[in-house]
Amino acid sequence: MSEKMLAAGSRDEFGERLVQKQQISQIISQTLNEKDFTAISTPLIERESTFEQYHRRNIFHLYDQIGENLVLRPDLTLPIARFLAANRRQSQVTQLYYIGDVFRQTDHLSGAYNQETQAGIELIGDATFNAEMQALDTMLNFAEQFGIAEVQVVLSDARWIDTILKQLTMSEQQRHGLKEAIEAKNLTAFEKLRETIPDFPETLKRWPLAFGEDGEDVMWQLQYIPAAKKIIDNWLRLAEFVHQYYPEVTVTVDLAASSPQPYYTGAIMRGFIPSLGRYLFSGGRYDRLLENFQNETLPAVGMGLDIETILKKWRMAPTDDITREPIIVVLGKGRIAKDAQKLLKLAGIDTSPLDKPERKLIFSSPDGVYRFILVKPTDVIKYLDRGIGDIGIVGSDTMAEQDQNHYDMLDLETGQATFVVAAPPKFNLNATQRKRIATKYPTVTTQYFSKRGEDVEIIKLEGSVELGPLTNLSDAIVDITETGNTLRENNLVIYDKVAKVSTHLIIRSGALLQFQTELKRVIENMMTILGEKQNENYPK
Ligand code: PRP
Repeated sequence: MSEKMLAAGSRDEFGERLVQKQQISQIISQTLNEKDFTAISTPLIERESTFEQYHRRNIFHLYDQIGENLVLRPDLTLPIARFLAANRRQSQVTQLYYIGDVFRQTDHLSGAYNQETQAGIELIGDATFNAEMQALDTMLNFAEQFGIAEVQVVLSDARWIDTILKQLTMSEQQRHGLKEAIEAKNLTAFEKLRETIPDFPETLKRWPLAFGEDGEDVMWQLQYIPAAKKIIDNWLRLAEFVHQYYPEVTVTVDLAASSPQPYYTGAIMRGFIPSLGRYLFSGGRYDRLLENFQNETLPAVGMGLDIETILKKWRMAPTDDITREPIIVVLGKGRIAKDAQKLLKLAGIDTSPLDKPERKLIFSSPDGVYRFILVKPTDVIKYLDRGIGDIGIVGSDTMAEQDQNHYDMLDLETGQATFVVAAPPKFNLNATQRKRIATKYPTVTTQYFSKRGEDVEIIKLEGSVELGPLTNLSDAIVDITETGNTLRENNLVIYDKVAKVSTHLIIRSGALLQFQTELKRVIENMMTILGEKQNENYPK
């Protein structure tokens, strides 16, 4: 029976939803045909080497009858680059467009789909800024055609972070670490590094949060740097253009944005839809696109249009636009719940409805601004990554086992525990025979033992892991310990410490733009109380 069912992560499309999707595709192709774009369709199956520079690891792999490594395409831009490298007519500006499906392996059984339809344009051969303007114009034109009025254009640039970091004196390692922390909006890592750099400019103190109004403030203050001014001038040109031709569209900057793909080289333009908390379009300049295929470089600007976003917007009831959604806080039940609640309260969120939860799982704050949902700790990330939750409070033990498609913003330094290898007293960690390790954390365990150069048999348990060696199900365990009581009472000894565990604040990426003012206030408050940890109210 199960063989005749859908594979996890896939779906059939039929009826009204499919008709609407077809209508969207028709509007896109008709409009672009009229604008003299050339349609291109590339195969679903490509050689693996086409995607060498692709940084997503979740590609579906196939083999043909002679053992050639093939993939289901995870992206449509790189196949177009492959096409151009082989079929390029010299010194000609080419305007291409595509509509097609891409495939990406999603987190297993997460409810995320692994096939999605993408549409996009590629303006090839134009090195001038006209290409950026034309690309943005085309996308905003589509927004108008699809009746989506509330677009916020968010501008960034692939060169921005490097340009600013170059101005500051620091080692290559510090520069690399800072860039990573800024792009991931990891405030804890950013703060730690920032403190090691003398004279770090006050203006950039909250760099990972420098988007929206704060981003604009910082931008004006950095104009004195010539290389930064060049980038800012480009943003201003784009903003002026938008204001002139699309007066309802707002424009802002993100000074902490990462490049959507490593091949980006210049301006990045995204269209955000606040009521959905997701993007309508995204793209920019990538002059290094062809490097993977031939020696010569070729200027290019490309934009992808998210057909799912258009569909979502079309299928929304008109009243959904006006009602302001509450901010959804996803809380893990159990070990860290009490402390998480205390922290949210200290950060200014009225958590009083959570005081007597009984069997209820969903609560609203008295002011209606927040909604709390209580879930199993291992499900917190799922709710965020599926676009339901906005803020999550979760242990780094849980995070270590799952894909991360959100911002890991703050280590709250509460709920502290340690990952350890533990076993009965006669165990020998350095013995050569293959060990059987019981754990709730197979990823952490695999990483730990492969770093030691050891291949172990992992036995996944859902709880009471200590029973593993006591019943001879396993030789040892990898588990977290807080007080050490459980280990002691079960006569288990710690053989090695694997990593520290603590509670983290995570935020869905779209939520940061959607609820900027409120979320920045909460984060700022949390940072202040973290700084005053000696405060007796701070949960340990
Ligand atoms: C965790 C962990 C240990 C215990 C350690 O279990 O798996 O069993 O806490 O804490 P201690 O060092 O303070 O004694 P949890 O309470 O999550 O229950 P479970 O093992 O049944 O999942």
